[in-house]
Amino acid sequence: MSTTPPNDSARKKVTTRTFHLKKQRSEPITMLSAYDYPTALAVDKAGIDSILVGDSLGMVVLGYENTIPVTMEDMLHHCKAVARGATIPLLVGDMPFMSYQSTWDKALDNAGRFLKEAGMDAVKLEGGRERAEVVRRIVDAGIPVMGHLGLTPQSVHAFGGFRAQGKTAEAAKRLVEDARILQEAGAFSIVLEAVPAQLAELISKELAIPTIGIGAGIGCDGQVLVIHDLIGQFDRFVPSFVKQYAQTHQIVLEAIQSFREEVNAGSFPTDEHSIFMKAEEWEALLDALRTDD
Ligand code: KIV
Repeated sequence: MSTTPPNDSARKKVTTRTFHLKKQRSEPITMLSAYDYPTALAVDKAGIDSILVGDSLGMVVLGYENTIPVTMEDMLHHCKAVARGATIPLLVGDMPFMSYQSTWDKALDNAGRFLKEAGMDAVKLEGGRERAEVVRRIVDAGIPVMGHLGLTPQSVHAFGGFRAQGKTAEAAKRLVEDARILQEAGAFSIVLEAVPAQLAELISKELAIPTIGIGAGIGCDGQVLVIHDLIGQFDRFVPSFVKQYAQTHQIVLEAIQSFREEVNAGSFPTDEHSIFMKAEEWEALLDALRTDD
């Protein structure tokens, strides 16, 4: 059964503090990705706590095989559209591959652009201990940082594919340590992607900051999904942990096919979808054309 979100007037802007309060009160945090204005409007209207403008953009909107080719300009362009549509959710911009890995200055400048130019409230970046220093520096600049551990898609080549992580005791221990290190570095929250549910629950209990799971079971402090997966818009592949709440790809396909059939059959547009001149204007036009002849 769906619950109605509170009236807009009763809703307050979600901040990183809201995330912490929700964790303290054991209230689940909801997060969805969005990449454009109309989707941002819908996600906001539905009462979702946070929008991630994820670099999954590269796969579900731009048609790349993975997230590696996504640029800062791609991200900022879509973040701006989302910021125009959503007022209440905490807006998190995903730092694309190689926008934070090379130099501190570049990482800081790029993180700053998400807030200054694109209206985001926070940034997200992937990685554990190897990213602790960059997280610390960005946080020190006053920019909230969300971490991302487990299946970090920007490392798809290092992982040898999109594979679940932390399945052995050794790998799981490393993830627990990474989560502690990111918290220590100042991250306000951490996404846990495609890791065993027991491990995600353990990390969530261990940390003071909230975890947001995707393919990480019920024990996380919140849940995030890619919107195209949730609404069944992206049918190239569907990860096993995704629940499709609708099949919009099929609905869109059928609408497009109906359009094609009706145009071919001459049944669209009808008068209902046409614009007409007033009779006197039409007659005046015909007269004027006759006079010209
Ligand atoms: O890019 C993205 O949408 C993400 C989520 C899968 C967490 O990083």
